[in-house]
Amino acid sequence: MVDYKFPKDFWWGSAASATQTEGSHNGITGETVWDRWFSEASNRFFDGVGPGKTSDFYHRYKEDIKNMKDIGHNSFRMSISWARLIPGGTGEVNQDAIDFYNAVIDELLAQDIEPFVNLFHFDMPIELQDKGGWENREVIDAYADYAKVAFDLFGDRVNKWFTFNEPIVPVEGGYLYDFHYPNVVDAKRAIQVAYNTMIAHARVVKLYHANYEGDIGIVLNLTPSYPRSQNPADLKAAHICDLFFNRSFLDPAVLGEYPEDLIDLLEEHGQLPETKVQDKELLKNNIIDILGVNYYQPRRVKAKEYLPNPYAPFMPDWFFDNYEMPGRKMNVYRGWEIYEKGVYDIMINLKENYNNIPSFISENGMGVQNEERFIKDGRIEDDYRIDFIKEHLKWIHKAAEEGCNVKGYHLWTFMDNWSWMNAYKNRYGFFAVDIETGERTAKKSASWIRDVSKQNGFNE
Ligand code: BG6
Repeated sequence: MVDYKFPKDFWWGSAASATQTEGSHNGITGETVWDRWFSEASNRFFDGVGPGKTSDFYHRYKEDIKNMKDIGHNSFRMSISWARLIPGGTGEVNQDAIDFYNAVIDELLAQDIEPFVNLFHFDMPIELQDKGGWENREVIDAYADYAKVAFDLFGDRVNKWFTFNEPIVPVEGGYLYDFHYPNVVDAKRAIQVAYNTMIAHARVVKLYHANYEGDIGIVLNLTPSYPRSQNPADLKAAHICDLFFNRSFLDPAVLGEYPEDLIDLLEEHGQLPETKVQDKELLKNNIIDILGVNYYQPRRVKAKEYLPNPYAPFMPDWFFDNYEMPGRKMNVYRGWEIYEKGVYDIMINLKENYNNIPSFISENGMGVQNEERFIKDGRIEDDYRIDFIKEHLKWIHKAAEEGCNVKGYHLWTFMDNWSWMNAYKNRYGFFAVDIETGERTAKKSASWIRDVSKQNGFNE
């Protein structure tokens, strides 16, 4: 029998985001890109369900936080909705939002659950998107003002802050692949958005370090890029993929600079973003204290095999192709590969190439459709989720044993919630939520994680 014991004070918990859980947004908060897009294209959302229909954490946070406590959480990552705190994105602060976030933070602390607070989870206030979103440097100023408001209001109790969740997602969704507003397909603009996001990030890290005490970081969805073969063309393709999807964020955040070969590649193909002279120093001097790693699946990559597709001009012939590796294990519901060792490869990379930065798994999880199929004696027997978590934990344990600075594991997510275009298609929670009544019911994985968290590990 193997004893999987985790490092002392390991962070057990889960993550969620404001837009996906809070609800009650109409009339209370400003609108975001999600409200706009849903109003324009509700048919693109699963079952036509938009961001107005959430699990209503806004009214039920006490019950939810009590449930978190019951299943052994010692930490929880939430996000603040910029549009709720400052409707319109700039100017007056909304007292209702102050009261709400104060109450949530206080309730978490009262239950000995440490709040980790993220400032931006895909939810740009619509007024700022209409001004160009992250393409417009004025939005960076507005974001820094918003961050200051949040730090001033909640920084006395919150000691772990995150500037962005998965900054690549609004870039690829909004500017490359058409799954987020503003549905632009333009590589050059995408690269500018990615760059400006990291400038906004560094501005806020600087602000925090100069005025507050605690840790600040960023949450990145790192996707190890595995080449189809050791053939130089496949290796090069995997390297390009890694540069774009991981290192464009990881390197500036942790090392304070962009990889030289990324800059060379962009220059060679006429894709360099517009920069300002002071940017380099800003990035260099403002690196993070802590890194959140969201890990769901790796990327399998091969050299480009066909000429540019006129319908996908954002995949130029110097880029790479995705590769469907035969025999790979899949979460068929979500269409994502399951490769547990990926999480270990990420941690080893952070140890060897990123100063062994303090990090934690800030999201990992398994979305499943129609989970009612698995109800037995009134609860969902989600053994598949337990196995999924357990197999990832084994690799995280191995990484920790080998000296990786991994401090915790957060599941996506605490309770079933609304998701960006998928609405309620895939359920991820430890708790099931009845969307009509709002009733929460613990799944089998909830009692399993309670035991694991309380024993700080498991045997097998
Ligand atoms: C992460 C996001 O990318 O994946 C979450 O941070 C998201 O917001 C989660 O919900 C799962 O993805 P999806 O699309 O299945 O909800």
